[in-house]
Amino acid sequence: MPRFAEFFAGIGLVREAIEPLGWECVFANDIAPTKAEMYTARFGSDHLLVRDIHDLSVSDIPADVDLVTASFPCIDLSLAGNRSGLAGRHSGTIWPFLDLVGGLHHRGALPSALLLENVTGLLSSEGGRDLRAICERIGKLGYLMDVVVLDAKWFAPQSRPRLFVVALRSDLAVGVSSRSGDGDLSVLRPRNVQRFQRANRDLPFIELSLPEPPRGSPLRLAAVLDQVPGDDASWWPDERVDALIDAMAPRHRERVEELSAGVRDGVATMFRRVRAGRTVGEVRADQLAGCLRTPHGGSSVQFLVDCRTGTARIRPLSGREYARLQGAWDFPIDVSDRRAWLGFGDAVCVPAVRWLVAHALGFLCEGERSDPESQLRLLDQSAAYAAVA
Ligand SMILES: C[S@@+](CC[C@H](N)C(=O)[O-])C[C@H]1O[C@@H](n2cnc3c(N)ncnc32)[C@H](O)[C@@H]1O
Repeated sequence: MPRFAEFFAGIGLVREAIEPLGWECVFANDIAPTKAEMYTARFGSDHLLVRDIHDLSVSDIPADVDLVTASFPCIDLSLAGNRSGLAGRHSGTIWPFLDLVGGLHHRGALPSALLLENVTGLLSSEGGRDLRAICERIGKLGYLMDVVVLDAKWFAPQSRPRLFVVALRSDLAVGVSSRSGDGDLSVLRPRNVQRFQRANRDLPFIELSLPEPPRGSPLRLAAVLDQVPGDDASWWPDERVDALIDAMAPRHRERVEELSAGVRDGVATMFRRVRAGRTVGEVRADQLAGCLRTPHGGSSVQFLVDCRTGTARIRPLSGREYARLQGAWDFPIDVSDRRAWLGFGDAVCVPAVRWLVAHALGFLCEGERSDPESQLRLLDQSAAYAAVA
């Protein structure tokens, strides 16, 4: 069974994604005790080390790790953050991570593959120089790499485009077609990825042979919602709902009217925004949740506008609904909604990571497990995710 180490593990959704594919988790690290509590409730604490990555040393990482993953902090790279890039305190944690991979190299135990995940803003951070610096470093360690974008909305009803760097140790990448920088425009490698690769032709890029990803969630938004009784305290009082709808821009008020008429299953998600000094509600028209985020730093929780009874009702999405939007159907949630929003809002979308690892790295597994299609089929049959689909 191939072994992996999960850095920036959070609540463990990378593990949630790939363990069922036959990968064994032998090490996990994160700095946040609150996330560690959720991680431990799901996976136990055997392999989890709660510590600042700056304070880790190579000797903390078990020998013979085949894959190392890093969904490192995006705060300094996302629009909602301060855009200080990889010089920032949070996203700059990629450097101690890569130092540790370098340490594994010196130990003669360079992992077969690396998987990095972050927001697509990494492509443009510092005019592309930040991503270049990462790829340059990975190349020097002895890897060839591909850069792809996957959107959670292809797998679940949530808009969440994310950038992935998949790196293969050069001795294993034999036979994988080498990229000249002029590849076809594809959904996985949109224009900005191609532009980045063309501008950095000197770096060791490869084009992994990946199939077209699914183009549309198998689940509608209504399928991930809790059945919440009408008298539950989470629903806003009628006066508050009316006041918010009255204050909406006409376009958004019309969307609520459409929902009441039964359009889009009668449900939609909503963010609250401050516009011209007033808090207004903005309702989505695409049957998706917006990108889940952690509810601090000014970015708000996401709300449900539910018009299925003919009258608009509003409540925050629950922690369980956040989990389902990330494809984590069976994840135990013994914490408050606020803590669950923090954990799941910051996490990866399980089926998106599963799809990528099955297709890009399935060959590192043995026997039937090395065939991505049969891996994903096996999972489809067993998961609650498929039962609802
Ligand atoms: C984008 S989240 C990753 C979430 C994770 N993949 C999941 O599925 O829950 C980034 C993680 O990096 C962790 N982190 C931030 N600074 C860190 C540091 N200095 N050392 C270790 N982990 C850190 C945060 O606590 C957070 O859980």
